[in-house]
Amino acid sequence: MLAKALTAVVTAAAAFSQLGQAQTTPADEKWAAAYEKANTALARLSQNEKIGIVSGVGWGKGACVGNTGSAGSINYPSLCLQDGPLGLRHARSVTAFAPAIQAASTWDVELIRQRGQYMGEEAKGIGVHVLLGPVAGALGKIPAAGRNWEAFGPDPYLTGIAMIETIEGIQSAGVQACAKHYILNEQERNRETMSSSVDDRTMHELYLWPFADSVKANVASVMCSYNKINGTWACESQSAMQKLLKDELGFPGYVVSDWNAQHTTAGSANGGMDMTMPGSDFDGRNILWGPQLQSAVQQNAVSAARLDDMVRRVLASWYYLGQDSGYPQVNMNANVQGNHKENARAVARDGIVLLKNDGNLLPLKKPAKIAVIGSSTVVNSDGLNACPDRGCNKGALAMGWGSGTVDLTYLVAPHEAIKARADKEGIQVSHSPSDDGGAGAQAAQGADIAFVFVTADSGEGYIEVEGHGGDRNHLDPWHDGNRLVQQVAAANPNTIVVVHSVGPILLESILQNTGVKGIVWAGLPGQENGNALVDVLFGDTNPNGKLPYTIGKRAEDWGAAVVNGDDNFREGLYIDYRHFDKQSIEPRYEFGFGLSYTTFEYSDISVSSTATPGPATGTLKPGGPEDLYEIVATITATITNSGEVDGAEVAQLYVTYPSSAPETPPKQLRGFQKLKLKAGEAGEATFNVRRKDISFWDVGQQKWVVPEGEFKVAVGASSRDLRLDGAFTVA
Ligand code: BGC
Repeated sequence: MLAKALTAVVTAAAAFSQLGQAQTTPADEKWAAAYEKANTALARLSQNEKIGIVSGVGWGKGACVGNTGSAGSINYPSLCLQDGPLGLRHARSVTAFAPAIQAASTWDVELIRQRGQYMGEEAKGIGVHVLLGPVAGALGKIPAAGRNWEAFGPDPYLTGIAMIETIEGIQSAGVQACAKHYILNEQERNRETMSSSVDDRTMHELYLWPFADSVKANVASVMCSYNKINGTWACESQSAMQKLLKDELGFPGYVVSDWNAQHTTAGSANGGMDMTMPGSDFDGRNILWGPQLQSAVQQNAVSAARLDDMVRRVLASWYYLGQDSGYPQVNMNANVQGNHKENARAVARDGIVLLKNDGNLLPLKKPAKIAVIGSSTVVNSDGLNACPDRGCNKGALAMGWGSGTVDLTYLVAPHEAIKARADKEGIQVSHSPSDDGGAGAQAAQGADIAFVFVTADSGEGYIEVEGHGGDRNHLDPWHDGNRLVQQVAAANPNTIVVVHSVGPILLESILQNTGVKGIVWAGLPGQENGNALVDVLFGDTNPNGKLPYTIGKRAEDWGAAVVNGDDNFREGLYIDYRHFDKQSIEPRYEFGFGLSYTTFEYSDISVSSTATPGPATGTLKPGGPEDLYEIVATITATITNSGEVDGAEVAQLYVTYPSSAPETPPKQLRGFQKLKLKAGEAGEATFNVRRKDISFWDVGQQKWVVPEGEFKVAVGASSRDLRLDGAFTVA
């Protein structure tokens, strides 16, 4: 049975054929079994059915944002594909989870996995077969880029781990995940016309990295992006889809186009695209597959074998997830929320980063009176979901705008949550629900502590908000937030700034005010905005998030910005902290930074390694050569909560490559662990380093290679607060 199944996989696609010779892991056996079923089904399909399975039915023509044809002969449904990365778009009664950037900010793999699982359960509950997420592109090299918040931040390692946890979580619920947008879709401006060119090494070590982890996690589908790659549309790019994804990473699933990202019939088929969405342009015209694919196959512009390969990949993914039996019908009205708001709150809360806390003003110590100031302290007065796809910035911020949003069933705004809690404790609250500086100053006067709220928003390029066409035009807080803070801080010497933002903002102006004693980086919280904040402000939770990106002092400091024409990724490997390190630029708050109400001590590092130099040569499995994912080094360290209150610390491991490697960023994140420690308690952090984590992409050999020599390792509380050093030598 297994032998037969493996033969089925061998015939499925040349690229994936090595699987047949491999010692199979359970996931591979599962793929093999899925391919066997797919082959049996394929033999029964009519040509029309095959075409239908890989073609969308057209924009606006089904229950979901994407719908395929069905195939009666094998009981195959019209596949429902629905956004998105933080929950189910266009549904009535779903959870608005905290966005991915907030999940990354928790550095908590258990919460990230649970978030994925709950999103998967909600998708299945409403009958969605394919959940269009998670996102690893934009990776986030450009701080102002519009969609960074849909993803996990600019470090490929952190993003890769978050992709694995999210995909495994979603797929554990029986739903196909879709890793998107593949690839080099780093900004919104001109996203549908521009070309991105990147050198091969940077492609592998930054942008492809988290997609490789996604394939390793057995992601069912990958979405090709709007942009061109080296002058070729991503959804026609043989080098991206066939060579990198299918041949090099052994991807057994299918590539689906971004919505209307397809440009030619045969070009995309022969480039390696396996499904087109939504099947027409947004006017219902310009159909490129369907009947057109039919004639292309008849005329041999696309081979019948290529069509079969597409169908087989789509069917195998459906079988892989067990969607062939008992799958619910699509019902966008189903209430599928369960207890998922607990995860939404936990991620929003544990993703909060305490940046500044002078005089330990926080947590609040029963002040008599506090002030709460800013338009984002209340829900948009026009209505909870007044702007479609959240295309406006009014009121409390939950998420950015675009296709990666959901309709809220509720939003707990900051003032409501703070007031409820303050009432219980007999604390008086003065409130100014606008961004008017005069009114803010008035509310702040006489309060023991003034909380002033600012936001920054961004989103997808098909909507423009307050002049921002997706990407942000600047890195300042919106609505003249610097002025609001200045006026409030002038009126109250104990001012705490709360920032809700899609990504980094410049804090220099805010920090010039002597009245600003604290900054709470509350990130992008989803529906539990106010509750999460209250947990931290009142000390029920000790803040334990860490920045998933760098906050620089000037927009130029990042060395990457939105471009007008094509982008040739000249910064190469040097994005975010890799760039700040390389150029010796002092950030305002570095990648991985975050304060706590307690203190942690680091001690007793131990380092061991079994790594051998040279290329990974293992059998190809989903994700790449099998040995690339073997653990080759283990670093441990003791972390002690040396303060007075319970807390959690994200211990981070950074690796510096030996000089025998080609020039590599000064240090790179290669491990992290969140430890929950009671006051006085000590725990051990363990970092298991995979062969991949100490390899570089050797462009000449076209292989991942471990260089010879001494690797330096450092363990610490942030990328610039490294407390312990060690080393191991590969010889
Ligand atoms: C976005 C995708 C999304 C698709 C379907 C596109 O505009 O880029 O992320 O999945 O629309 O809504």
